[in-house]
Amino acid sequence: MLFVCFVDKPRGPPKAPEATGEFMKNPFVYGETVSGRHFCNRVNEVRELIRDIENGQNVIIYSPRRYGKTSLIIRVLERVKRKGILTFYADLYPAINKEKFIEIYAKAITVGLPGKMTSVLRKINEYLPRVIPKAVMNERSMQFELEFDRSADFSPHIDDLLVAAKKAADRHKKEAVVVFDEFQEIANFEDDEIERKMRSAFQAHRNVSYIFMGSKTHLMREIFNNPNRPFYKSGKHFPLQKIDPTELRKFAEDRFSSGGISAGKGEMEEVLNTTECHPYYFQMLCNVLWEICQDSGVILHHDIQESLDTLISRESSTYVAVWEGLTEKQRSLMVALASEKYPAVFSAGFLGRYSLGSSSSIQKALKRLMERDQVRQENGSYVIVDIFLKKWINRTWR
Ligand SMILES: Nc1ncnc2c1ncn2[C@@H]1O[C@H](COP(=O)(O)OP(=O)(O)O)[C@@H](O)[C@H]1O
Ligand SMILES: [Mg+2]
Repeated sequence: MLFVCFVDKPRGPPKAPEATGEFMKNPFVYGETVSGRHFCNRVNEVRELIRDIENGQNVIIYSPRRYGKTSLIIRVLERVKRKGILTFYADLYPAINKEKFIEIYAKAITVGLPGKMTSVLRKINEYLPRVIPKAVMNERSMQFELEFDRSADFSPHIDDLLVAAKKAADRHKKEAVVVFDEFQEIANFEDDEIERKMRSAFQAHRNVSYIFMGSKTHLMREIFNNPNRPFYKSGKHFPLQKIDPTELRKFAEDRFSSGGISAGKGEMEEVLNTTECHPYYFQMLCNVLWEICQDSGVILHHDIQESLDTLISRESSTYVAVWEGLTEKQRSLMVALASEKYPAVFSAGFLGRYSLGSSSSIQKALKRLMERDQVRQENGSYVIVDIFLKKWINRTWR
């Protein structure tokens, strides 16, 4: 059986709206990668990552989801590409198995290869000899079609793929960088063949920097910190932090003032506190504030409250669905975590205050909530991932 996938050239990593030339009135963007004037600061992170890539350093970037990993790496890739470095970007989020991994990575290699359509077709033959590429026309553009023999063993495909970026770098006498976004997904594959082969192939690639990014911090730690796993000690750890509050405030003030909206020091402080300086929730709240304050031209305390109400009621059906999917014990634990900042969750006091029962049953509930990405570890304690869900719980269930 043949497997077909389409690859538009030259579509690379996702592009933010501004990069595509689309005009956006509201300058606060969330739910997609941000670039250009929608991107705040991260100057030091960009500089450090560019240096790492130039040095062929492998880097492991992790943070909770929506902290800005993808936006950051896209900015970095744009910069290093301009310096002549070959860039490959593979988003492994949809990679549910090895077959899907091959499809995604083959696309990433194809899209990242430099050159015109015909020369890329020739190079695919050279780098991925077991993949059959074809150029096809549709109404809008020229596309690639990649075919694999699905009935055959996947291993030779994997072997070809894992050396493709290195071959391209050698051939063009350039450095290369390969990004695996949401890399932790490989932990769900049927076996560890890819993990093992990646490690042994990549360590010989001096002119290629591999960047492994992940949002599920506990899984990323398991992959890279467990001495029994192939990727143990295989790169520089780069835990991405939230954006510096001073920069975030300046960023928002600039954008508000460009729309004729002003905010007092106290109000900006309140926006930062309400969103805990989380880039995604900060943008979300500012986005609604921008709409609400169009007429008045000034942000007041009650506007912030109104924006928050709007956002929470907009999301409430999702929150109800999340809530309905939880057990009684998990719900009690979520209420408890929403009530206190960095509690000692296994202490008798905490367990007693919220009638949580034994610490072993809480351990189980925590594990399940972390697997579902509702809770994560922070500061030696546990926190609810979605800040607005936390607020919804406090309003609804306390
Ligand atoms: N540097 C930044 N400047 C402004 N907003 C940002 C920045 N990084 C992230 N964001 C906000 O966070 C959201 C999620 O960013 P994204 O890059 O997709 O995060 P991740 O890849 O970590 O999940 C964006 O849609 C944007 O609203
Ligand atoms: Mg991402």
